[in-house]
Amino acid sequence: MKWHQDYRQKMRSCNFYTIAVHGLYSMQEALDFNQGSIIEPMYASSSQTYRDSDEMELALGYQIPTWCYSRIANPSMYYLEGLLALLEEYKTGTEASCLLTSSGMSAIRTTIDEFLHPDPKDPKRPINFVATAQVYGGTYQLFSVRKNDEAKCEWRRVINSADISEWESLIDENTRFLYGEMPSNPTLAFFDLEKVAALAHKHGIPMIVDSTVATPALMRPLAHGADIVIQSVTKSLTTSGFGIAGAIIARKNIPAKLDKPELKADFCTYLKLLPARDYGPNLNTLHCTLVINDIRTLRMKMDVMSRNTMKVAQYLEQHKHVDRVNYLGLPSHPLHTIAKKYLYLVDAEIDELYGEPVNRYGHLMSFEVKGGAENCRRVFDAFTRIWRATDLGRIKSVATIPAISTHSQQGEEGRKAAAIPMNLIRLSVGAEHPDDVIRDLEQALAVLDGKTALSDSPEYSAGGASSARLR
Ligand SMILES: Cc1ncc(COP(=O)(O)O)c(C=O)c1O
Repeated sequence: MKWHQDYRQKMRSCNFYTIAVHGLYSMQEALDFNQGSIIEPMYASSSQTYRDSDEMELALGYQIPTWCYSRIANPSMYYLEGLLALLEEYKTGTEASCLLTSSGMSAIRTTIDEFLHPDPKDPKRPINFVATAQVYGGTYQLFSVRKNDEAKCEWRRVINSADISEWESLIDENTRFLYGEMPSNPTLAFFDLEKVAALAHKHGIPMIVDSTVATPALMRPLAHGADIVIQSVTKSLTTSGFGIAGAIIARKNIPAKLDKPELKADFCTYLKLLPARDYGPNLNTLHCTLVINDIRTLRMKMDVMSRNTMKVAQYLEQHKHVDRVNYLGLPSHPLHTIAKKYLYLVDAEIDELYGEPVNRYGHLMSFEVKGGAENCRRVFDAFTRIWRATDLGRIKSVATIPAISTHSQQGEEGRKAAAIPMNLIRLSVGAEHPDDVIRDLEQALAVLDGKTALSDSPEYSAGGASSARLR
């Protein structure tokens, strides 16, 4: 245990690139335990054996380091949890811990459930939480249907999250936490986190931030007062798109209106050893190694994808068939100034290429097609390079129409609150050459001028590849 703690401290003094590449896996471990393997081994085992009953008893009582059973812990999980904690706490002046979950949604649920238990001294006392309305559609449903309607924990929606007075007006003595997604999916809402976190702390409650779209390569919310960070690891952290995963990363000693000292002292370790053990939202151990491998190149991918997205956003901004572009990097965006305060490529100032701080705004943007829903679908259907899928953060460009996919279930009123019109296309720009992405957009938007889309040519039409699809 001591050796691992010392090694962790050693890694904390490394630069972001180095942490991302090596994480907590050391040469010493490779030589002593892993046949010299330079890549973290995959521990495809449900459980660990013990020398005798004494060792087993101590291990299961969490008295000695153990990975006992892979619903709770496993060496592959240890490497990824350690890596994510190191990246989120990087240059924040705080120490963090991490709990992996089977999905981003599971990370959100596992986190918020802990703060929504009835008050044992006054079980009838109402409970509420204050959270941005501009959130991923699944989060919207979790908050509105599962919590607000079914569990009777009131969701107080922040409609304009940039307005700090709106946050403040919704908080009272029954508020359990503040929650914000920034930048939000798909409309790129953003707020002044330091001010909102200060509000949370004034009321003795935690600030939770879903930072999936930024990743620690562009923003580390713990540096700005957040207590708990949510990552849908599925997205940019696993750019290659190998599967679904989530993570909770929390600082030590968080505020909460709960009489649970262990929860406040180390939220993720508390979750891991107690509630998550009982609920079982753990990540498949084999998947951990795939994610670790993707994270090694996170910083450079976020840099390239951000630069590409900027180019695409600039192109779309001047296009005659586009009404509006949501991209925080555009100086014309109403939230550009506030985003500029928070979104930086980590360590650009010590990068030979840049040598100074550099703003980067990520790979996610959305745009409204002129002429409404029908035109939007015609353009969307004409893409040939950009994949039509409910996904983002991929190394490949991917687009969706949120109103008919990711955000369809929340209905018209919910979409209005979240500012999602029917003619909005969400575009996650990948690492292709941006000119090729622009070419695809250009030919797709040209259908509104009566031109034939490339997607209707024999090369792409139903007679070609799609008829060969396995059914
Ligand atoms: C911002 C954000 N948070 C959370 C989630 C949920 O993550 P998952 O799909 O891994 O459950 C998503 C999914 O799109 C998302 O975009």
